[in-house]
Amino acid sequence: MQYAAPHMKNGGSVITLTYLGGQRVCANYKVMGVAKAALEAYVRELAFELGPKAIRVNAISAGPIKTLAASGITGFDYILEYHKSVSPLRENVTTTDVAEAAAFLSGDKAKMITGQTLFVDAGYSIVGVPQLG
Ligand SMILES: NC(=O)c1ccc[n+]([C@@H]2O[C@H](COP(=O)([O-])OP(=O)(O)OC[C@H]3O[C@@H](n4cnc5c(N)ncnc54)[C@H](O)[C@@H]3O)[C@@H](O)[C@H]2O)c1
Repeated sequence: MQYAAPHMKNGGSVITLTYLGGQRVCANYKVMGVAKAALEAYVRELAFELGPKAIRVNAISAGPIKTLAASGITGFDYILEYHKSVSPLRENVTTTDVAEAAAFLSGDKAKMITGQTLFVDAGYSIVGVPQLG
C-alpha cells in the first residue's frame, strides 16, 4: 500500500486474504495465526489511514480451500471434512465464492464498508458447540 496508494488518485478498494486462525487457535496453523492476526490489525490501521483518500481496505476470511499453499498445512483434508460437517451451511467454500465476495467488496455496493474482516466460510466461524450426531 505504501507504493500503491500514491497512484490511487481516485480512491479504490484493497482486499487481503485471511483465515480464522487470526482470531482463534487452529491446530497446525501455528505462527500463521499470529501473522493473520497482525494482518487483520493492519487492515484496520490502513483503513483508518487511507479512508480520507477514499481508499477502502478490507479482508476476506475464507474457509479452507485445497490450494497449493494449503497443502503445506498438516491434516488439511481433515480440516476440510470437519469444516463441511460443522458449518451451518454444511458446505466447503470454493475459490468462486471468495471471488464473488471480492467483487462485492471492490464495487460501489460496498462503498461504505472499510476496515472489516468479512467471513466467507459457510458460517463456520459463528459456531461454538457443533450439532452432534
Ligand atoms: N486455501 C485456504 O484454505 C485459505 C483460507 C483462508 C485464507 N487463505 C489465504 O489466501 C491467500 C492465498 O492462498 P491460496 O490458498 O489461494 O494459495 P495459492 O497457493 O493458490 O496462492 C498463493 C499465491 O501467492 C503467490 N505468491 C507466493 N509468494 C508470493 C510473493 N512473495 N509475492 C507475490 N505472490 C506470491 C503464489 O504465486 C500464488 O499465486 C493466502 O494469504 C492464504 O493464507 C487461504
